[in-house]
Amino acid sequence: MLQDQITKYTAEINAFDTTNAGELEQFRIRFLGTKGIIKDIFDEFKAVSPEEKRTLGKVLNEFKQLAEAKYQALNEVIESSSSQTENAALDLTLPGEGFEIGARHPLALVRREIIEIFNKLGFSVAEGPEIEDDWHNFSALNFPEEHPARDMQDTFFIKKGGEKGDIALRTHTSSVQVRMMEAGQPPFRALMPGRVYRNEAISARAHCFFHQVEGLYVDENVSFADLKQTLFYFVQELYGEGTKVRFRPSYFPFTEPSAEMDISCSICKGDGCQMCKQSGWVEILGCGMVDPNVLENCGIDSKKYSGFAFGMGIERIANLKFEIKDLRLFSENDVRFLKQYKTAII
Ligand code: PHE
Repeated sequence: MLQDQITKYTAEINAFDTTNAGELEQFRIRFLGTKGIIKDIFDEFKAVSPEEKRTLGKVLNEFKQLAEAKYQALNEVIESSSSQTENAALDLTLPGEGFEIGARHPLALVRREIIEIFNKLGFSVAEGPEIEDDWHNFSALNFPEEHPARDMQDTFFIKKGGEKGDIALRTHTSSVQVRMMEAGQPPFRALMPGRVYRNEAISARAHCFFHQVEGLYVDENVSFADLKQTLFYFVQELYGEGTKVRFRPSYFPFTEPSAEMDISCSICKGDGCQMCKQSGWVEILGCGMVDPNVLENCGIDSKKYSGFAFGMGIERIANLKFEIKDLRLFSENDVRFLKQYKTAII
């Protein structure tokens, strides 16, 4: 009886062929599974007589090996053909996906451009702390005690009346000019880029912090003509040749005389537009001859040396360059805004 079954199933196994993984799995379950035919036959084998066992045992083992060999052979064929189709899907000639490279912040781009222009004139870069004492931010710069810029409304004070006077977030990088002059003797020719803080309500046109580049040049016989020519050169480099400049008298405690410098609007070329409020001119910086009091405060002989200084907001320069109308965009970290500057110099 068992022998008959084995003969029948042997024929079935020999005839079986498939390239389908599902069908092969059915085959495995039917013959080799834990409740499969081979298991049943082995169970029945336990009941046969000892004489029969001797001959049938060998037949049974061969039958089991046949089923296993069949399964393995078909399985190999199926696995190798499926890995071939995986390889076919992998097209090694396709271009790579590349890396997503970040973009420079527009303010960093403009700051770098300003520094590069002044580098050509021999200006180096100086930095200083953002938390300043009264002396470096105000007193050394000739701010009278009662000057409104010291008022709580403009300045973020951190500590009132300490050992070094009031401690505040610097309101301009002129404080770095003081530190530089205190630390050495002329000639000085440097730029002071950095973040500054003023207590203003945040809107499209004002923020509680912004970025400045200030500049200082102190040597023997430095004149207002040097100031004008330096700034004129700067503007031609930054906004292109033919950009006009004009100086309007102004007031800063630390410069005398003082001026504000306007340039012909880089957007409408002087015809009048929204950016220049139809005037054709935009103010870009404050400047002047360093007040002799400031030189003396920093230990420099004001009879021997003179100098000029200027200061500009990087945001303002960037607004004009990129036609950005809302200051808040610079600090919101909106990737869609920042990504636009990817093609600019790296
Ligand atoms: N410190 C001035 C400001 O923050 C700018 C300035 C610098 C003006 C140097 C004149 C000379 O507004």
